[in-house]
Amino acid sequence: MIGILQVQETANPSRLMGMQLITEENYRKFISDNQHVKIENVDVEIGRPWRIKEFGPAKDYKPEEFTVWSFPSRGDWATHSGNYRGNWSPYIPRNLIMKYSKPGELVLDQMCGSGTTLVESKLLGRDGIGVDVNPDAVMVAQDRLSFDYNTLDRPRRVETRTYVGDARNLDLISDETVDLIATHPPYAGIISYTGKRILDDLSRLKLPAYIDAMRKVAAESNRVLKNNRYCGVLIGDTRKGRHYIPISLGVLQAFLSVGFILKEDIIKLQHKTMTTRQKWRGHSYDFYKIAHEHLYVFRKPALNEKTAPLKYSKKWW
Ligand SMILES: C[S@@+](CC[C@H](N)C(=O)[O-])C[C@H]1O[C@@H](n2cnc3c(N)ncnc32)[C@H](O)[C@@H]1O
Repeated sequence: MIGILQVQETANPSRLMGMQLITEENYRKFISDNQHVKIENVDVEIGRPWRIKEFGPAKDYKPEEFTVWSFPSRGDWATHSGNYRGNWSPYIPRNLIMKYSKPGELVLDQMCGSGTTLVESKLLGRDGIGVDVNPDAVMVAQDRLSFDYNTLDRPRRVETRTYVGDARNLDLISDETVDLIATHPPYAGIISYTGKRILDDLSRLKLPAYIDAMRKVAAESNRVLKNNRYCGVLIGDTRKGRHYIPISLGVLQAFLSVGFILKEDIIKLQHKTMTTRQKWRGHSYDFYKIAHEHLYVFRKPALNEKTAPLKYSKKWW
């Protein structure tokens, strides 16, 4: 682990770091020395045995059918917990995984944070690859994956790998090998995940540099994804000087500009807007509080696909 932390601190921003596997053994060693990690000033406890009551949402939960999604109670089955700042509700990767992949396929989350996508992949019988620039986040993800889950109808053991790395350089993943990407980048600098500690953290960047970085993330996503498969990206907007900043629009353009086609623009409602998104003082505002995020679902075209009929769902400018 020490070696990984050193790489982070001396990283040269002009040369993107490569992926480094974090094994179960690395995790065991880490939790023998650490009982918690700090993510954006929040202590996240790790290394305690899990007492799991449920391995999925309530039996009567039905997958989403419309383009507006709302999860007032975020979902706390298996090892999911809301205490990793800015983590996404497990209902989101669950819906993407169920709709756009099959058991035994490979799901990638290259900004995996606390590993919500990886836990859902494991529960749904998909292999998973998780990458995060922050070694502490990868330890949280490993922690949340530390549970046994076996069902009689699972034909094979699921394999989940976690790496410290940069979403702009997935050097250990070969071209066209991933069946589904489900990822949730920082919303530019709205939440600072690692402060000044990790140079390659995208949440440190100002908006133009952030959008530029997201173009590289999009290009890597396009490279590793199989043809005719899907990439889901959740992204939110912000406000400054009482005006709206559409971060999501820049991210949409970044993904379209590398060749993706827009399959869906799903509005995900937010339920804790004041605490999670803006800290405006006072009680009266001349604007509306932002209460939605965009979940874009992109499709990589099939080999030799004639995409002209879809020209207004592609890069049009
Ligand atoms: C919105 S959080 C993801 C939360 C995750 N969906 C979950 O449920 O825990 C964004 C993550 O991106 C990571 N990140 C920031 N810059 C990155 C980069 N260049 N490459 C990979 N991960 C990065 C942050 O450390 C943070 O964990």
